[in-house]
Amino acid sequence: MITILFSLIILLSHVASSHSERCNPQEKLTLLQIKKEFNNPTLLSSWKPNTDCCHPKLHWHGIKCDHNSHHVKSIHLSYNKKLASKIPPLIGNLPYLETLVLFHLPNLIGPIPQTLSKLTNLTYLTISSTNVSGSIPNFLGQFKSLVNLDLSFNNFYGSLPPSLSHLLNLTGIFLGYNNLIGPIPDSYGSFKNHPNLYLSHNKLSGVVPISLGMVDFSSIDLSHNRFEGDPSMLFGSNKVTAAIDLSWNLFSFDIGKVELPKITSMLDVSHNEIYGKLPLGIENVMLLNVSYNSLCGEIPKGDKHNVDSYFHNKCLCGSPLPSCK
Ligand SMILES: *[C@@H]1O[C@H](CO)[C@@H](O)[C@H](O)[C@H]1NC(C)=O
Ligand SMILES: *[C@@H]1O[C@H](CO)[C@@H](O)[C@H](O)[C@H]1NC(C)=O
Ligand SMILES: *[C@@H]1O[C@H](CO)[C@@H](O)[C@H](O)[C@H]1NC(C)=O
Ligand SMILES: *[C@@H]1O[C@H](CO)[C@@H](O)[C@H](O)[C@H]1NC(C)=O
Repeated sequence: MITILFSLIILLSHVASSHSERCNPQEKLTLLQIKKEFNNPTLLSSWKPNTDCCHPKLHWHGIKCDHNSHHVKSIHLSYNKKLASKIPPLIGNLPYLETLVLFHLPNLIGPIPQTLSKLTNLTYLTISSTNVSGSIPNFLGQFKSLVNLDLSFNNFYGSLPPSLSHLLNLTGIFLGYNNLIGPIPDSYGSFKNHPNLYLSHNKLSGVVPISLGMVDFSSIDLSHNRFEGDPSMLFGSNKVTAAIDLSWNLFSFDIGKVELPKITSMLDVSHNEIYGKLPLGIENVMLLNVSYNSLCGEIPKGDKHNVDSYFHNKCLCGSPLPSCK
């Protein structure tokens, strides 16, 4: 009798739990199809039709649901060499997605599918250290809630999408280590919220648009590109820019005329065609590199930098370089 009762209780609780499955049935179906589009990798073996995709303990790998609505709000897949496919287009059918992270997946290939344009609630988008290629889609400019965009370390080519400037909450823009070409769009002068802009190790070219002088960056990295001309508008004593990396470009301007932001603790302008004297306050910059340029004049007395912050210039002098005549 007790055994029968016990079995009944177990049976009932089983029925109850399957009825109380949190996972939205449509989204569960979509996730199972996404698993198929990923070619059923072992990484996703926890994505099983008979389990709850939102269950807090029987967790589906990389999936997070909203506590109240139970909609899938986050997909985070990383550090896996066996995930060998394109980005599943069906990810675009998870309209409540706020976070999409595809990180260190070297065998993820192909372009960003057009269907991802439906993910207008995305706040964090990371596709980084993959083999994804194609152009950076302009539809990213419709993701009004986007705070962080990391598309670094991939094979993206083509130009920078002008539409990113529509994103008023965007504070992290990481597009370095790709094959991007062409200039920085004028529209990037309307970035708000002290963005961090990282464009290094691409094939970007042209002059930095005047409009960028309107932006107060937290940090900016344009290094290892083919930029030219005068980027003086990036400087200014009242800006909050802590790190400025302009190294390995073709910049040519009188750096003696710029006012360093008081807060700047990292300045690398090495390997350019920069001339003039050192700007005032250079001795306060903690990490400094002005080497391989055409600078002249005296290094401030008491300066603590090593010789390799200053060497290979036209006529800089004073410690740590040989003294001025
Ligand atoms: C996007 O987020 C808002 C606010 O959280 C929500 O009301 C809306 O339903 C979401 N839209 C979609 C398509 O998920
Ligand atoms: C990326 O793809 C290219 C061509 O499709 C291939 O040659 C290269 O080996 C791939 N890189 C990695 C890290 O898998
Ligand atoms: C931008 O951020 C603010 C402050 O966090 C937030 O209230 C607002 O909803 C965000 N805007 C969008 C479009 O997500
Ligand atoms: C500055 O850059 C040059 C050239 O890339 C390098 O050799 C040197 O070590 C760097 N100095 C510092 C202080 O980083």
